Amino acid sequence: MSVTVMLFKRNIALDTLILVVVLIIVNIIRRQFNSNSLEIKRFLGYDSDLLLNFTQLANKYGYSSEEHTVVTEDGYLLKVFRIKNKKCEARVKQPPLLLMHGVLQSSDAWFDASPGTGLAYLLADECFDAWVGNQRGNYYARRHLTLNPDKDSSFWDFSVDQIGYYDVPATIDYVLSNMRVKKLNYIGYSQGAGTFFVMCSERPEYCKKTSLLIGLSPATRLKHTKSKPFRSILNILSTCEGLLAQLKINELFAKESFLQVLVEFICQIRLFSEPLCENFLYGFVDSSHPGSITHETLSMLYSHIAGGTSLRNMARYGQSLNADDFQKYDFGETVNVVKYGSKKPPGYNLSSVSLPVVIIYGANDHLVDTKDISWLVDKLPNVIGLEEVADPLWNHLDTMFSQHINKTIWPTVNRYLKRFSETYMKTKS
Ligand SMILES: *[C@@H]1O[C@H](CO)[C@@H](O)[C@H](O)[C@H]1NC(C)=O
Ligand SMILES: *[C@@H]1O[C@H](CO)[C@@H](O)[C@H](O)[C@H]1NC(C)=O
Ligand SMILES: *[C@@H]1O[C@H](CO)[C@@H](O)[C@H](O)[C@H]1NC(C)=O
Repeated sequence: MSVTVMLFKRNIALDTLILVVVLIIVNIIRRQFNSNSLEIKRFLGYDSDLLLNFTQLANKYGYSSEEHTVVTEDGYLLKVFRIKNKKCEARVKQPPLLLMHGVLQSSDAWFDASPGTGLAYLLADECFDAWVGNQRGNYYARRHLTLNPDKDSSFWDFSVDQIGYYDVPATIDYVLSNMRVKKLNYIGYSQGAGTFFVMCSERPEYCKKTSLLIGLSPATRLKHTKSKPFRSILNILSTCEGLLAQLKINELFAKESFLQVLVEFICQIRLFSEPLCENFLYGFVDSSHPGSITHETLSMLYSHIAGGTSLRNMARYGQSLNADDFQKYDFGETVNVVKYGSKKPPGYNLSSVSLPVVIIYGANDHLVDTKDISWLVDKLPNVIGLEEVADPLWNHLDTMFSQHINKTIWPTVNRYLKRFSETYMKTKS
């Protein structure tokens, strides 16, 4: 039995207490860890890749890269990166492609599975012009024109609702205006796809700025999520949201927090990575796939996860485990009436997702369950491709981190992208 499952076999009241205490402690000791952490990690002998940011990683492996800053309408500053393979300079495929990460991740996640396997590398190798976005609250998007994330709790008043309304459109506009084109293609993993649907519902004109959406294990309604540890943590956070907010704990699972630093340290040691770190991950997602994630990828992903998000966002996921619809954050009846004009939070209009959509998912995904995928697919008006990965053990993490990405999801992603890159060039001329 894995460590996580054992932890969650005990009663829920004790778990709640422990989690709340851990979050309080982590928040208090967090700030001391920020300075000099690179020096310390170098001294402790970390693999050099663990110390590099997006640009440095791209450059190290021979790719050219750019750093840009997107400003959202409500003042958040988000980094967006661009990666290109140098051999492609004269024949880069168009339109540009935008990648969006999942919850508690950042743009770095697309690199974790190393060159030849990680999707950002594979896309660049096929000469796609890949832009890699970040969503507010993670370590590349923890800045604002006027709000200070360390002092102003209102910085953290957001969930998927605002990310889909502001961040995704702002990033799309930025890429389009930089490239002087009218459309792009979009690949979203988990929350990165869910936020795209939010955008289409609330700002349908942005849906039309995208030629193709590839949703990898897209997270919308999570009613059938099987993972017990995941359900427990999210339910606890949702239940204790008011209490934690009172204690000024508005940011959760930040990079360089005590917890993340400790876990990163343990997981870069080969001796621990499989028995502890791999089993912990598999316990958390409640679905194992032995040998799928290499030691190198495990240590990379633990150095980037958790990348930080808001308490509100996690609480909203807690709500979505118990809702029948893909809907907005529930403030409680009184506030809902003020904010939404109805006692219940409104559902997102998935009929407005008018563009061609391809969905790729795993049968062994216990976070985004296949039943919720079917529910989503029924609601979407223009699904042109639906693919369950042939490997029956394919789970939520494999899509980003498996060493088998090249043989499983990549051929499908590549095939559809090529089709839409060509189609766009033809209609343009
Ligand atoms: C990445 O590291 C380089 C080199 O230290 C630095 O110039 C750059 O600002 C960093 N980028 C981000 C987004 O932190
Ligand atoms: C990825 O897979 C394709 C086809 O299976 C193969 O041609 C290619 O060499 C692989 N790339 C890497 C880097 O392994
Ligand atoms: C949802 O979107 C569709 C397509 O744009 C539109 O026809 C329909 O009226 C919308 N429904 C609601 C409730 O707004």
